[in-house]
Amino acid sequence: MIKTALTRWFDLDVPVFGAPMAGVAGGELARAVSLGGGLGMLGVGSETAVDWIAEQAQVPAEAGVSFGIGLMAWAVERRPELLTAAIAAEPVLVSVSFGDPGPFVGPLHDAGIAVATAVNSLADLDRAHDAGVDIVVAQGTEAGGHTGQRATLPLLQEVLAATDRPVLAAGGVATGAGLAAVLVAGAAGAWIGTPFLSCTEATNSAAARERVRAASGDRTVLTSAFDIALGLPWPARWPGRALVNEFTVAWEGREDELRGDPAAAEQVRRARAEGDLEHAPLYAGESVGLVSAEESATAVVRRLAAEARTALERAPRLLG
Ligand SMILES: Cc1cc2nc3c(=O)[nH]c(=O)nc-3n(C[C@H](O)[C@H](O)[C@H](O)COP(=O)(O)O)c2cc1C
Repeated sequence: MIKTALTRWFDLDVPVFGAPMAGVAGGELARAVSLGGGLGMLGVGSETAVDWIAEQAQVPAEAGVSFGIGLMAWAVERRPELLTAAIAAEPVLVSVSFGDPGPFVGPLHDAGIAVATAVNSLADLDRAHDAGVDIVVAQGTEAGGHTGQRATLPLLQEVLAATDRPVLAAGGVATGAGLAAVLVAGAAGAWIGTPFLSCTEATNSAAARERVRAASGDRTVLTSAFDIALGLPWPARWPGRALVNEFTVAWEGREDELRGDPAAAEQVRRARAEGDLEHAPLYAGESVGLVSAEESATAVVRRLAAEARTALERAPRLLG
């Protein structure tokens, strides 16, 4: 057991939050993370079918474990039914990231649901305070998927100094030693995505999991190319960190040319449908080089906990 303000709040054994990951984190992954003693979360994307939320929420609920749901603010603005479905699913936590969480905090609190939001800058933190969120996720640019420009550690330290809310560190935490490091820095836990990309419970493809295991942490890129090609209305300030592939190399620095290029859009759409990973996005963070096995998310959480304990037990020796 490692205790923090958030393990006490959500009755967890381990301060590990399984980050919401659209297209990867469904009910089985959330259940597996929670069974390991962390808190698993469903990832709801901008195009996720609304019925998917209730279906997937049933999986951890039927196992009798708590779970959370991650929404994207800009997507909920367009599709408010996503928030309604998330509330109806009775999670203990909802995150509303990538935009202003303000309009959504009241309805979530009225339903007794805690609210988190990811921040990528100190300006985002001000907005999170104004919105009245309960938990702040300091998400560094090392993170997989959509993210900002600031690195995890300096952002985390500044956020911790500027807020009285519990803070989770996101972006690049992939070992127990890494978890121990952010806890010692003052975080109340870690919000972890990339280490779960190769888990047996993930809803990505077997080929994607294999590519994740083979990938080097040197070969990720922050790109808007896929969103532009697919015509997704992602706000420009959040590009996505993905594995480098033929598509990202071809369009690096020329993303604007993709706008309105029907051939590129068709190429990415076809690649997604056919599992062509040289032209489809495979979002993953810089910690991808540390992911080398296909295993259960329950085992990943338990290993992070055991390794973090070892690291924390060793830490006092530094005092001489
Ligand atoms: C494949 C993938 C999909 C993601 N989808 C979402 C999402 O739907 N909502 C969200 O808030 N964050 C999403 N993220 C970001 C994660 O919630 C989290 O911030 C990030 O994975 C943490 O950094 P790490 O990947 O280094 O562990 C996604 C990340 C990945 C890798």
